[in-house]
Amino acid sequence: KNYVSIGLLGLGTVGSGVVQLIQQHQEDLVHQVGCEVRVKSILVRDIHKNRDLGNHQVHLTTDANEVLQDPEIDVVIEVMGGIEESRAYITQALKAKKHVVTANKDLIALYGPELQDLAVENECDLFYEASVAGGIPILRGLADGLVSDRIQKIMGIVNGTTNYILTKMDEDGLSYEAALKEAQELGFAEADPTADVEGLDAARKMAILARLAFFTNVDLEDVEVSGISNVSVSDLNYGKQLGYTMKLIGHAHIEDQQLEISVQPTFLSRNHPLAAVKDEYNAIYVNGKAVGETMFYGPGAGSLPTATAVMADVISVIKNMKLQVNGTSVVKPRFERVLKTPEQ
Ligand code: NAP
Ligand code: HSE
Repeated sequence: KNYVSIGLLGLGTVGSGVVQLIQQHQEDLVHQVGCEVRVKSILVRDIHKNRDLGNHQVHLTTDANEVLQDPEIDVVIEVMGGIEESRAYITQALKAKKHVVTANKDLIALYGPELQDLAVENECDLFYEASVAGGIPILRGLADGLVSDRIQKIMGIVNGTTNYILTKMDEDGLSYEAALKEAQELGFAEADPTADVEGLDAARKMAILARLAFFTNVDLEDVEVSGISNVSVSDLNYGKQLGYTMKLIGHAHIEDQQLEISVQPTFLSRNHPLAAVKDEYNAIYVNGKAVGETMFYGPGAGSLPTATAVMADVISVIKNMKLQVNGTSVVKPRFERVLKTPEQ
C-alpha cells in the first residue's frame, strides 16, 4: 500500500492535536516521508462524546482489538494515559509487530526499559518524545544532539501544570485551587492532577531524562520528591518581597560517580533565567563536559505542542520503515545503576 495507517489509543487533549496535525500538515508529511499518513481507528472510552474530527473519516471504537489486531495498522499512538491498561495494549501492539509512539511518562518511567526490549525483540520502534516537556525535543536533544558528550547535570522545569499554577498565584494572586482549575481547563493537567501537584509527574520525567543523559537505569523510588500542594499565595508574596520567585525544579547530577535526582519547590532569584519561564512553559538546562551549558525552552504541555512531538516520532518510525531499520535506534544503558540511595 502507498500510505501508512495509524491507530490511536485515546482522543483527548493530545490525541485530538495529533489528528488535527495529521490533517492540516498532510502535504508536509507526504513531502517528509514520501507517502500519505492516514488515521484509521481510534480507541475511546465514550463513543457518544461530541468530537471535532474535521473531514477525517475515522472509525471510533471502544474495543482495543479493533486497533491492536487490525493487520492494516502499522503504527499505534498511545495517548490514553494510565499504566496497566496502556502497558498491556502497548505490549500487544509490539507483539503484533506494530510500531508504537507514546506520550505516557508514567508508563515509560516505570516500564520503559522492559517495553524497549520487547520492541527490539519484535524489530519495532517504541518512541516517546512527547513524554517529557511537551513540545520541546529534549529526548532527541539528549539521545542525538548531545550523545557524544558526558552530561554532568540536568536542571529545569518539566511540569507545565505546576508552573502555570505558580505563575498565576505569583503574578495574578489567584488561589491555588483557582489556578489548578484553569490548568485543568486548558488541558495541561493529568486526568488526576495529583501526580502534577505532588511532583510525581516531574519525578517521572526526570527519571526518563536521567536514563538518557547518564546511560543508566533509574529507580523511581530513589528520586527525592516534593510538590506544591501546600504552597500559598502568602508564601509567594513573602519570596517576592525578598526578590525571589518559586519554581518546581527537577535536578539530576552526577557527583563522585553517583547520580542524585530530586524534584522540589525552589525559590530562585528573579534574575535567574528559569525565573522567567512562565505559565505552562518548561525549560531544561543541560550541562555537558564538552558542550558546557545548553538550555532547551518551550511549551511543556498542551494539545498541538505535544502533538508535534508525537508526530516527530511517527515520522522517525516511517523513515525507519522505509530503511527497514526499526528497532535499532535505542540508547543502551552503560551502567547498571549509579544512583545514590538516601542511606548511602
Ligand atoms: P485526556 O485528555 O484525558 O485524554 C485521554 C483519552 O484517552 C480520551 O480520549 C479517553 O477517552 C481515552 N481513554 C482514557 N482511558 C481509556 C480507556 N481505558 N479505554 C479507552 N479510552 C481511554 O489525556 P491527555 O491530556 O490527552 O493525555 C494523554 C497522555 O499524554 C497521558 O499519558 C499524558 O500524561 C500525556 N501527555 C499529556 C500532555 C498534555 O498536555 N495534556 C502532554 C504530554 C503528555 P474519552 O475521550 O472517551 O474520555
Ligand atoms: N500534566 C503534564 C504537565 C502534561 O503539566 O506537564 C505534560 O507532560
